Amino acid sequence: METVLSGIRSTGQLHLGNYFGALKNFVRMQHEANCFFFIADYHSLTTHPDPANLHDNVRSILIEYLAAGLDPDVATIYIQSDLPQVAELSLLLSMHAYLGELERTASFKEKVRKQPGNINAGLLTYPVLMAADILIHRATRVPVGKDQEQHLELTRRFARRFNQIYGVEYFPESLPYNFNQELVKIPGLDGSGKMGKSEGNCIYLSDEDSVIRKKVMKAVTDSGPTEPNSPMPDVIANLFTIMKAVSTPDTLSYFTDKWNSCEIRYGDLKKQLAEDIIKTISPIRERIKDISSNEAYLSKVVKEGAEKARVSANKTLSEVREIMGIKPF
Ligand code: TYM
Repeated sequence: METVLSGIRSTGQLHLGNYFGALKNFVRMQHEANCFFFIADYHSLTTHPDPANLHDNVRSILIEYLAAGLDPDVATIYIQSDLPQVAELSLLLSMHAYLGELERTASFKEKVRKQPGNINAGLLTYPVLMAADILIHRATRVPVGKDQEQHLELTRRFARRFNQIYGVEYFPESLPYNFNQELVKIPGLDGSGKMGKSEGNCIYLSDEDSVIRKKVMKAVTDSGPTEPNSPMPDVIANLFTIMKAVSTPDTLSYFTDKWNSCEIRYGDLKKQLAEDIIKTISPIRERIKDISSNEAYLSKVVKEGAEKARVSANKTLSEVREIMGIKPF
């Protein structure tokens, strides 16, 4: 049976990108495989969150996981910092991770550009910690969006290197969940690249219908096509990408035809898009409200998830220690 693992950083509420990039596929997989889903609170520390907010952020993501359909009776749901074995595996793997390759990682280079005042060692070794998250359960499938593709490549590289150095076939190849398809990238509504928390262009799973409508109606567009079948500029292609995720194939082809025949009315497209986003989000939002007040349930989920995750983590860590020559007296 495949082992599937995924996670999301605890830096705020979940958005449509998180849902279509990672959560939705995971929810689909949970009945077919041995599944782990965690909240990456160690990773969120790279941007120095206020300690007063960290716990609430973790809590709200946990609620959103459950509301999106992760089932704690089927999948193992846990918080990264409840598994200090991950930190030890990250330390062990870091001995074979080289400065050059870490400095060349796209996400690190972006942080250097965006936050030159806080280039901490945690940012540099971020991909090593992520590899440890995945390899601690020896996961073979990792549902992630396009932006995590390079991190996953590094995970495979670290795993192969470990196997080669110690002459073992221990760590598996960790592949993206839908590895023979292009990975999902949900764009923002502001005409810039991806939807993201730090980009401030998100539709959140907790957004009310009226907020969703307002955000979609404000999405950037252009003055419309002037020739039939002309290529779409990015801002318009972005709206179609989101439509592909939330709408039916019929709706998508209706508006594609309208574009191709220069009859498209962006107002109609946006109205339809907003309603289809609402169809995806509103049931999740209602469950978020239901689960939020159930403290006893939340602490039970976290406690049992940590216990289940530790069994697998302890096994891997003691085998890795043994392979590396760290043996008990
Ligand atoms: P994070 O928290 O930035 O995002 C969580 C997941 O959501 C996906 N995602 C998107 N997918 C499509 N379109 C978007 N606009 C979009 N925005 C976000 C991400 O690809 C990701 O799958 N490093 C990870 C967290 C992590 C992790 C792991 C993931 C830590 N350890 C181990 C998988 C396995 C991160 O920052 O994701």
